[in-house]
Amino acid sequence: MGAIDRFVGAVREVFAGTPDARAQAQKISGHMKALLASPNLMEEINQRGGGKPGRIDLHVDDKYGHPGPGFCLMTSLTPKGKSTGGARAHDHGASYVVYGVYKGAIEQTKYTWAYTNGADWTAPELRAGDCFVQKEGEIAFFLPGEIHKTSAASDDPPIVLRLEAQLLDRVARHTYNLDSHQTLSHG
Ligand SMILES: [Fe+2]
Repeated sequence: MGAIDRFVGAVREVFAGTPDARAQAQKISGHMKALLASPNLMEEINQRGGGKPGRIDLHVDDKYGHPGPGFCLMTSLTPKGKSTGGARAHDHGASYVVYGVYKGAIEQTKYTWAYTNGADWTAPELRAGDCFVQKEGEIAFFLPGEIHKTSAASDDPPIVLRLEAQLLDRVARHTYNLDSHQTLSHG
């Protein structure tokens, strides 16, 4: 059995036995760390994706996930020299995502709604909170409702494995304009 299948089996056990989303994400993080360290991971990714650039769904589960069935292990391959695209601040709705950096590095910034106009509680604005660089082999996750933005922080396009606790195409969520504070349904 390959490293991806071992990881998927371990994640299915996590969802089957752990109701708490934070605890799920912590356990999945441990398994993802092991996955990132497996020696043949790139070959396995290329086998499943045919070596083509773009999004590769490595596994979409038919039974388990959070809050509903359908967790997804995916990655995205960007050719060297090409931009990884503009990063918008977003949430993952009622789901969450575990990010593991396989190659390169990414910068992660979290945002919260804050009152920046004194005591006007009808004018919340997005304020940057925790900001950190995730390097090779490092894991971070964003829990239900959290807002974040991810951008590349390495010369070559980073390769990031993402565990969507439920395939995000199936989850209602938002993107955010950090200048105007517009909050738009993610279409
Ligand atoms: Fe995200």
